[in-house]
This record gives sequence, structure tokens and C-alpha cells, in this order.
Amino acid sequence: MIWSACGINFCSSSSNLVPRIGSSKLLNRPNKHHYLDCKQKTNLYENRRPLKVVAYYGLRSPPYKLNALEPYMSQRTIEMHWGEHHGSYVDTLNKQLAKNDILYGCTLEELIKVTYNNGNPLPEFNNAAQVWNHDFFWESMQPDGGNSPILGLLQQIEKDFGSFNSFRVKFIDAALTVFGSGWVWLVLKREEKRLAIVKTSNAVNPLVWNDIPLLNLDMWEHAYYLDYKNDKAKYVNVFINHLVSWNGVMTRMARAQAFVNLGEPKIPVA
Ligand SMILES: [Fe+2]
Repeated sequence: MIWSACGINFCSSSSNLVPRIGSSKLLNRPNKHHYLDCKQKTNLYENRRPLKVVAYYGLRSPPYKLNALEPYMSQRTIEMHWGEHHGSYVDTLNKQLAKNDILYGCTLEELIKVTYNNGNPLPEFNNAAQVWNHDFFWESMQPDGGNSPILGLLQQIEKDFGSFNSFRVKFIDAALTVFGSGWVWLVLKREEKRLAIVKTSNAVNPLVWNDIPLLNLDMWEHAYYLDYKNDKAKYVNVFINHLVSWNGVMTRMARAQAFVNLGEPKIPVA
């Protein structure tokens, strides 16, 4: 019997799943054996068993030293937030995937969409989404960040929000009105071809609605409590004024424009 998930074919012979083969420590990347057909997998597996998968996803490091965001985000906060919370999502996800063959081999984005399951999430969803959200969050910041975007991104923000200051006010307001734990995002909406600010609860990620994320801010208490206690407003303002990596957002925007044409409609000339 053959079936597929995440665009990958799986097969079974008699009662056994023919297999995920070998150990993969690759990050967010399908095992190369997924591209083999069932017969090839079977031959490989028979020659190499018993083998054990020891890891599916790894904990990706922030793209700067752990003290590089001081004094705005302390090394202690990042050590705890990245090393413990983010690390724990990775570990728990790997344990869950070890029990669920059908999900093995998905990229992290595929895994998020499949396990969201149209709003009726599978158990793996929260950890998968939180791993992605945190990888994205670390890359949403940079040392000497803040200021304002430039060039086309600034023009698009001005077009969709009126001005950069208006965007800034709306983003801060959205962050401060996240109920409980969650995230605030700047996204590009594919169908409407415009930027928007969205809030999500817990681990939910705009990928599940087919939005393209450009920037996110973690509004879970673990993100700010050590540095700012309950002063969420200070945390959010510091993020906007000193930490946002507009360079990173511009790179994401350029990539997004491969999928969404933000230019004027092209009117055919007879
Ligand atoms: Fe977090």
C-alpha cells in the first residue's frame, strides 16, 4: 500500500512500514532517502538494519552572539528563552515525530500546515509551530536594529498603513492587546496583495492562513519577564526602536515578491 503526506510517498509491506532509513541530523530538510521509491528503500533497509533515527530537527542558533542584543535583550533572557524554551520545543517535537512515521520527512513549514489540520490541530502542531516561530523571531532582530525600513519596503508600509509612524503605533497596539500568550506579526497577504498586522494565540502561525510572515514579536511572558517584568509596553517599544532587523524584513519581502506581484496591474496593450 502506498500513501503520501507532505508530498512524500510512503509504502508498507505486509504489516510493516517501509521505513525511514538512517539517522538524519539535517535541519528542516527531508532525508535524502525520501526521494527513493519503495523498492529502493526496501533494498537499502534490508542491507542496513537495524538503524535508529536519532534526530529530526535541530536547535538553530540565533544569528548573533547571545549577548549581542544587550542592553535591550539580556544574554540571560536569550539563554533561557532560546536555550531552554525554544530547545524544549525542538526536543518535544522530535519525540512526537519518533512515534508518528507519517509525518517524518516534512519540512517544518509543511509540518505546520499538515498538523494545523484546518484548525483542528494534531498534537505535533504546537511544538512544530513554536520551533518555526522562534527561529523566525531570532532572525527578526539584530544588534543596532530599530530605526525604520528604507526603499520599497518603506513605500509599501506607507501605502498600506499611511505612514511608518502609523504602522509603528498599530504594531505596538496589536502587541499590547494580545490576550494571554501569543505573537504579533507583520505579514504580506497573498490575495489582497497588501501588508497587514495580525495577532495569533499560543503557537498559531500565519502560514496556516497562507499569509507570508515578514516580522514577528514573541508576546509570551518568557520573552520579556526577566528584563522587563510586567512592563510589556517597554518591551514592545524597545523591540521596535532598537531591535527590529529591517534588513531581515526587506530580505523576506524580496523573497515574498517572487510569489506576490505588488506592482501596478499590467494592462495589455492591443
Ligand atoms: Fe518564546
